[in-house]
Amino acid sequence: MTDRILEGKTVLMTGAGRGIGRSMSVALAAAGAKVAMIDIDEYVLVESAKEAEDAGGQGSTKAFVCDVTDATRAKATAEEVISAFGSIDVLVTMRSSVRNGSATFSSRPQSSGNWTTTCGMPCCG
Ligand SMILES: NC(=O)c1ccc[n+]([C@@H]2O[C@H](COP(=O)([O-])OP(=O)(O)OC[C@H]3O[C@@H](n4cnc5c(N)ncnc54)[C@H](O)[C@@H]3O)[C@@H](O)[C@H]2O)c1
Repeated sequence: MTDRILEGKTVLMTGAGRGIGRSMSVALAAAGAKVAMIDIDEYVLVESAKEAEDAGGQGSTKAFVCDVTDATRAKATAEEVISAFGSIDVLVTMRSSVRNGSATFSSRPQSSGNWTTTCGMPCCG
């Protein structure tokens, strides 16, 4: 991704500290997105956010330590992201937060239990 085709968009990425979430964060930042990077592991998250910011430029990323299975903390983090970047335009979930049939960072309202149950781990949290 060399064109900054995501300029002006904010992406919230869970599981951003390692693996697919880390690689995607770097690519999205390089494409011009603001990337709100969330992970439970602060050590890897800080390293990952540095790498993504190197790709996207100063201020392109912000790291948020959060256990996405903690609904209260996750909601507060989403509010922090909106406060920092103004909006959440794209949600990429690389870690499940399914708990008792509900999900925290789901792309549908939490009341949509059927969707959560159907999609489960790959799509929630
Ligand atoms: N790697 C693959 O080939 C592959 C294939 C198909 C599906 N997946 C799915 O894609 C997702 C990501 O895979 P990966 O290989 O990049 O995983 P990974 O283990 O490398 O990275 C997952 C990240 O999620 C973070 N995390 C774990 N629990 C968390 C929590 N409660 N709150 C916030 N962050 C948390 C971890 O600290 C880690 O940094 C997983 O759900 C995996 O099942 C992976």
